[in-house]
Amino acid sequence: MSDKKRKTIGIIGGYGVIGIDVCRWLLQTTPHTIILGGRDKEKGMRAAAGFDNVRFMAADVEDPVSLDAFCSECDLVVNCTGPSRILGDGVASVALEKGIDYVDPSGGESLYNNVYAKHRKKILEKGLCFILSAGVFPGLSELLPDYIIKTGFDRVDRVTYHYCAYGDLSWASAWDFVCTLEENVGEGWICLRDGKKEKETQARMVPLPPPVGRIEMIPLLTEGLIRVGGYNNVTTIYEYHSVGKNLLASMLSIVGEERYRTADEKRQSANELIKGADADLGTMAEALQYCVMIHMEMDGVLDGNRQKTVTTAYHPSGYPMTAMTVADTARLVADGAVAGPGLHHFENGVDQSKFMDLFRKQEGLVYTHSVSGEL
Ligand SMILES: NC(=O)c1ccc[n+]([C@@H]2O[C@H](COP(=O)([O-])OP(=O)(O)OC[C@H]3O[C@@H](n4cnc5c(N)ncnc54)[C@H](OP(=O)(O)O)[C@@H]3O)[C@@H](O)[C@H]2O)c1
Repeated sequence: MSDKKRKTIGIIGGYGVIGIDVCRWLLQTTPHTIILGGRDKEKGMRAAAGFDNVRFMAADVEDPVSLDAFCSECDLVVNCTGPSRILGDGVASVALEKGIDYVDPSGGESLYNNVYAKHRKKILEKGLCFILSAGVFPGLSELLPDYIIKTGFDRVDRVTYHYCAYGDLSWASAWDFVCTLEENVGEGWICLRDGKKEKETQARMVPLPPPVGRIEMIPLLTEGLIRVGGYNNVTTIYEYHSVGKNLLASMLSIVGEERYRTADEKRQSANELIKGADADLGTMAEALQYCVMIHMEMDGVLDGNRQKTVTTAYHPSGYPMTAMTVADTARLVADGAVAGPGLHHFENGVDQSKFMDLFRKQEGLVYTHSVSGEL
């Protein structure tokens, strides 16, 4: 690759759980130059020393001068800092000022609408590409169903969607998780039937493919899947989720008692979620301990024929899957394989078929898709 195509990608939060694996995957799959950024010089230098030709620059999201210096060195910045609900649009604002593209695994409607949308006009004017929620959940949880619907059907009548994820929670993820509980980003015990939200009060025992197998799942209709249904005129969506029992109990108690109103409550609730997730790890079969599975069945029509598709994406460990997705997104942005300038949710930001080519090559991923005709 010529020097012109070799870009400098800055990963701020670069020695965090996601950031370090974004660096690893970018080095493994692209020729780009990587700079890690973060507040702790010692941790940063140690992380950078673990790779060839990666350097560290001290940068604090809450210190615009250091952020400015960091972004000045980059063609694209990947924001792996968190919690995103505390740090807001600090990195995005400086990226915009410096005129560089931006990728972020965090997102969701509240960040998109309340925090980032104010930059939309300027992002377009400057011809930049900003992609939010480029992770697994949110992220793949929307892109995968959108891709299957758009590439495999003329019309989808019904989506049945299952998502399960187990494993420990980083501090930033736990805090953001508490905020999503506060923002009520999913409606529990609801499904979408013929365009109307209806009560779906039964948890279901679902036979998911191995290694997950038969598990209890609860109905939860997320804003992300409603959005995807909206783009594609899908009026019937059954969405089910599974998390560990202790984590679920903590979530229900935090929501029931509204223990997310103050920063102190959020801190305590985040710690409770971390403990709940850890306790679940101790009770689970080894094969499930850190895994993520998205399993979808769709019924609809292609070329006048009814058909059904079954798609499963499984990874034995959720954080590397998130990191590889962030890194593949950064790669596509650097290569210009994106929808064009603008502020995008992940599923609208990347060239979906190019992303899927990279996704299928992610280390450890098991991806299957089958089509059967005439229901
Ligand atoms: N979409 C998805 O599927 C998905 C999945 C997992 C995570 N995420 C999101 O990804 C983000 C990172 O998660 P993670 O699990 O990697 O969290 P993490 O391990 O806690 O890492 C966060 C990093 O941010 C750094 N940081 C915190 N405050 C900073 C500041 N003011 N300036 C510079 N750096 C700062 C931390 O280092 P210091 O504290 O030493 O500065 C740390 O390196 C979170 O927002 C999380 O919600 C998304």
